[in-house]
Order: sequence, then structure tokens, then C-alpha cells
Amino acid sequence: MAKRARLVAGNWKMHGSRAANEALLAAVIAGVRELADVECVVCPPFPYLSQTAGLLAGSRVAWGAQNVSEYASGAYTGEVSAAMLLEFGCRYAIVGHSERRASFGETDAQVAAKFAAACRAGLVPILCVGESLTEREAGRTEDVIGRQLDAVLDASGPASLAQAVLAYEPVWAIGTGRNASPEQAQQVHAFLRARVALREGSVAARLRILYGGSVKAANAAALFAMPDVDGGLIGGASLVADDFVTICGAARSNP
Ligand code: 13P
Repeated sequence: MAKRARLVAGNWKMHGSRAANEALLAAVIAGVRELADVECVVCPPFPYLSQTAGLLAGSRVAWGAQNVSEYASGAYTGEVSAAMLLEFGCRYAIVGHSERRASFGETDAQVAAKFAAACRAGLVPILCVGESLTEREAGRTEDVIGRQLDAVLDASGPASLAQAVLAYEPVWAIGTGRNASPEQAQQVHAFLRARVALREGSVAARLRILYGGSVKAANAAALFAMPDVDGGLIGGASLVADDFVTICGAARSNP
């Protein structure tokens, strides 16, 4: 099996303040200094990206945005382009988070366009897919996430995933304290990898697939021990420095 570098990304969602970010980032930088084999990423809200870039300079923590426009420039009030992000040293951009799909009406086609825009600019998109509880209970998990993934594969082609990261985030596990079991996560991650392999085997073998949804310091190691779970996308626990550092540590290849 291809060796894939582990990655843990913190999605701060709409949380933070200048003072809180400063303390959190200082603790994270110090805490992950020795974790040479884990890529650590933080994704703060847009107004804090410049502050974050400054505080992270020279550290081994990268940063990303929580969203990106599908447009390059123009009359799109409130939007932020991939090129603007890149100019500040941004490396990653979350696209298709379930909160954007559910609360802001982002469609599969729009998510695919955002993914393409991020790739074109040279960002690394973190593409989120995931099913709701109703969909899972109706046995539709693979239909839903297969459709979400295919929208991107059809629009950008399988080679585009070579510069991307995939994140499986079951909606029922986000912010609920009810994480997918390691076996449930593994089953879906294996499905996603196989789906990419149908189009391009070598891309699938190298693709990093993160799990997100109530990852905590106490359950991270068991989730990351699964063969197709290559790290995590962390919400609430990424706002608590000790927890986030512990989760990053749990992603080491040989903890
Ligand atoms: P929680 O870790 O708070 O469940 O959030 C997960 C998530 O949505 C990360 O993008």
C-alpha cells in the first residue's frame, strides 16, 4: 500500500478572536513542533487569516480557508477568491463542508466549481462529503457520498485528486459527540478510495482521506489506526490547544 503522510486539520468554524487565536496558535505551534511526520493545519475564519499567517510564519503548522469562491474575480459581494488566499500564503481550502451545503445551499455542481477554482490557483482543496442520519438509516450512505464525489471527478477529472485531500464527515457525527466508529469510518473510506480507483488507481492509492465528526483526544487514535483513515478534520476539539495537539500526536505513523 502507498505510504500516505498523515494530516490533521482544525476547522475553527465561526469561532475565534485576536487574543484567543494568539494563545491557541502559540500552544499548537509549541505542541506539534516534534511531530515531524504529521502535517498540521488550522483553518480560521477569513478575517483572521492574515493574523494566522503572521503567527505561523517559520512554524511547521500550515493554514487554510474554510471556503473559497468558484469565481476568479468580479461582482461577487462577500466572496473571497482562491488567488487572494494564495497571496497570503494559504495552502488549503475546505470545500463542500456539510454546513455550507445545508445552510448556504451549496450544490454538488457549485462544490465542484469551487474545487476546480482552488486547484487552478494551486491551493489544496479539502473536499468534504458526508451523509445525513436519515440518509444513513435509509441505507443511502454510498449513494450520497458517491454522488458528491462523482460531481468533482466528472468536473475536474481523477488527476485533480492528486493535489487534493478528501474528508468523510458524516453529518450526524458533526458537533454531536457521536463519532462514527472506527469500523464505520473505515468502511466508508474504503468505499471512497475504491470509487476513485475505478477512475485512476494510482491517484486512489495516494489520496489522503480524513475522517471528521466528533473526533476527540480520546477517540482519535482508534480512528487513525484504520488502514484507510489518513488523519482528521477536527471541529470543536481544534479550539482547545491540548486536545488538538493530542489529536495530531495520535496521527503519527508510529505513535
Ligand atoms: P466536530 O469535530 O466539532 O464534530 O466538527 C467536525 C467538523 O465539522 C470539521 O469540519
